[in-house]
Amino acid sequence: MNKINIAAEKFARLIEQQLERVAKMNEDTAFLDYAALPEIRIGTVGGDGIGPAITAQAQRVLEFLLADEVKCGKVKFVEIKGLTIENRVEKNQAIPDDVLAELKTCHVILKGPTTTPQAGDPWPNIESANVAMRKALDLFANVRPVRVPEAGIDWTFFRENTEGAYAVGSQGVEVDENLAIDFTVTTTEGSKRIIRSAFEYARQNKKTLVTAVTKANVIKTTDGKFLRCFHEIARDYPGIHTDEWYIDIMTAKLIDKKRRGHFQVLVMPNLYGDILTDEAAEFQGGVGTAGSANIGKRYAMFEAIHGSAPRMVKEGRDIYADPSSMMRAAIMLLNHMGYEAQGARFETALDICTLTARKHVLTGRSDGATNAEFADYVMETIQKL
Ligand code: IPM
Ligand code: MG
Repeated sequence: MNKINIAAEKFARLIEQQLERVAKMNEDTAFLDYAALPEIRIGTVGGDGIGPAITAQAQRVLEFLLADEVKCGKVKFVEIKGLTIENRVEKNQAIPDDVLAELKTCHVILKGPTTTPQAGDPWPNIESANVAMRKALDLFANVRPVRVPEAGIDWTFFRENTEGAYAVGSQGVEVDENLAIDFTVTTTEGSKRIIRSAFEYARQNKKTLVTAVTKANVIKTTDGKFLRCFHEIARDYPGIHTDEWYIDIMTAKLIDKKRRGHFQVLVMPNLYGDILTDEAAEFQGGVGTAGSANIGKRYAMFEAIHGSAPRMVKEGRDIYADPSSMMRAAIMLLNHMGYEAQGARFETALDICTLTARKHVLTGRSDGATNAEFADYVMETIQKL
């Protein structure tokens, strides 16, 4: 068989897989009702590098806030081991089957960062655990808030989380030594469900503007579809203004002091969301300060937006790693489960600890607080509220 036929067959299989996914997505309509559950299971996953250290501290504050619920059996914490780079390499799976089965027994998941292998690493180039989990649990909405009140910044990014360049990112085709082709995937329902989530959020939170970010002038077929879906959904929300930007100029507008305060809710395909949210988080103090919610209809997972920082562990500095990204994630987890009062107390305390009082500051090194000291400080602050 010649190389064109081999590549064409691979492409045909990808299309089959994606058509199956579309059929499943169209069947799956109802969101889980947390209030109706007899017990909410919170899975905790430490991950790699600094992950276990910072996740444990966010979990301590969650356990403190949910002590009554745990005591009466309404909430249960479940520790899930085995989502480590060593175990994933040993099983040669992005998420080993037994770990995925355990994740699926939970309703919400607090997940530390995991190592993502790339070409040239000592690890085999297996798919990222984040990306695999988002797809396996169909966590289609990646919600990433960034707030800098003194700079007039209050942005909420809705990053599509299961499609675009990530959908088959580990299944590109190396046609021969001179030609490599990757694919980007956009579906109608996949676009509509993330865009609808952004508009619903805007409506519920009295936001007046939803911005679409694409590169539809060049990536015409897939981004073009995303933008058409955006205009169609927007018609259901006549009270909300819309605008649209291309990703390149959007990255510039986020640093334009005159313009940036005007953005409120932003919705975009996967890769643009990945890039833009790192840039956005920098205004707030860097990726170490930013949490992220990965929301699907049946499951939801909450994590930091940064990686596992293996260098900090190598240098023995994981106890000094900033846990506030995981704490921001934990706040979103509480809100998502319907525990908004606890979420608000946690958020107020964390704002005091990181923005205003700042009695224990993390520097990432031994001249700053440890993450355990910082978590103690957050809990003391909650008690004083
Ligand atoms: C993120 C991360 C991941 C992504 C990596 C670790 C695969 O950068 O959550 O933004 O690209 O989505
Ligand atoms: Mg990223």
